[in-house]
Amino acid sequence: MSDKNSQHSSRAGVGVVVVAAGSGQRLGQGIPKARVLCGGRTLLEHSLDAVLASGVATAVVVVLPAGDAVLSSVVARAAAQAAAHTAEDAAGAVVEIMEVTGGATRTASVRAGLDALPPSVAVVLVHDAARALTPPAVFQRVAAAVAAGAPAVVPVLPVVDTVKVVVGDVVTATPDRASLRAVQTPQGFDADALRAVHASSHAEDPAVTDDARLMEVHGRAVHVVEGDALAFKVTTPLDLVIAEAVLAQAPVLGVSPTT
Ligand code: CTP
Ligand code: MG
Repeated sequence: MSDKNSQHSSRAGVGVVVVAAGSGQRLGQGIPKARVLCGGRTLLEHSLDAVLASGVATAVVVVLPAGDAVLSSVVARAAAQAAAHTAEDAAGAVVEIMEVTGGATRTASVRAGLDALPPSVAVVLVHDAARALTPPAVFQRVAAAVAAGAPAVVPVLPVVDTVKVVVGDVVTATPDRASLRAVQTPQGFDADALRAVHASSHAEDPAVTDDARLMEVHGRAVHVVEGDALAFKVTTPLDLVIAEAVLAQAPVLGVSPTT
C-alpha cells in the first residue's frame, strides 16, 4: 500500500480518453456517430469542447474509427487550438491532444486510448464522445473525487422509471428504485488501478459495458458523484432531436455550448 501511494504521488496529470470509434448503428445515419452533426457541428467537436472547457485535462487521447479523415481533422484542429491557447496564456499548462484507432468493442477502444496516454498521468477519465453535451462541471466533479482518493468514480442520476427484471416475457423481480442509479460518463479512475483491471480482463466480454464494471469485478470500490441530465448519450434518432433542441434553446436552459 505504501509502495502504491508513493508511486501515485510521484505522478501528476489527468488523462482523458474520449471514445469515438463506434459505428452508430442505432442512430442509423450510416456514418460513425462522432461525425454526425448537431447544431451544425460534429458530436466529437461538442465533446472535445466540453473536455477542454473543464480545464481538468493535461492529456487527451481521442479514439477514432480506422482511417476517418474527417474525425482526424477535428482532433488536429482541437490540438492546434489548445496549443494556440497555451501560447497565449503563459501560465496555462500544455494540453497534449492525440488520436489513436479504436477496436471492435468499447472496452477495446478504451484500452487503445489508455495505452496511448502518457505513463505519467495519475488520473484517467474515460468519456463517451456520444455524450456530446456533457457540462464541463461533471468532468470537474469526477476528477476532484478521484484526486481526493477514490479509485473509481461515476456520475449518476436517479432512475425515474420503475425497472423490472424480465426473463423471456415474464417479470421476475422489481428492484427497489430508490437504490438504482443511471450511470453516465466521464468515469474517473486512479490510472494504475484502471490499467491493472484492463490488463487482466478480456476486451470482448459482452457483460462489460463500462470501465466501472471492470473495477467492480476486481473488488475495487466505485464511488458516485452527481451526474447531469445534459450528459445523456446520443444513441437513437430521438436523442439527436433532443440534442438539437437543447442547443437551439441553450440560452433558455442556461447551458453555454461553445460554437
Ligand atoms: N465506442 C468506441 N468503440 C467501439 C464501440 C463504441 O469507441 N468499438 C464508443 C462510441 O463511439 C461512443 C461510446 O463508445 O462514443 C458509447 O458507445 P455507443 O453509444 O454504443 O456508440 P456506438 O457503438 O457507436 O453506437 P451503436 O451501439 O448504436 O452502434
Ligand atoms: Mg455500441
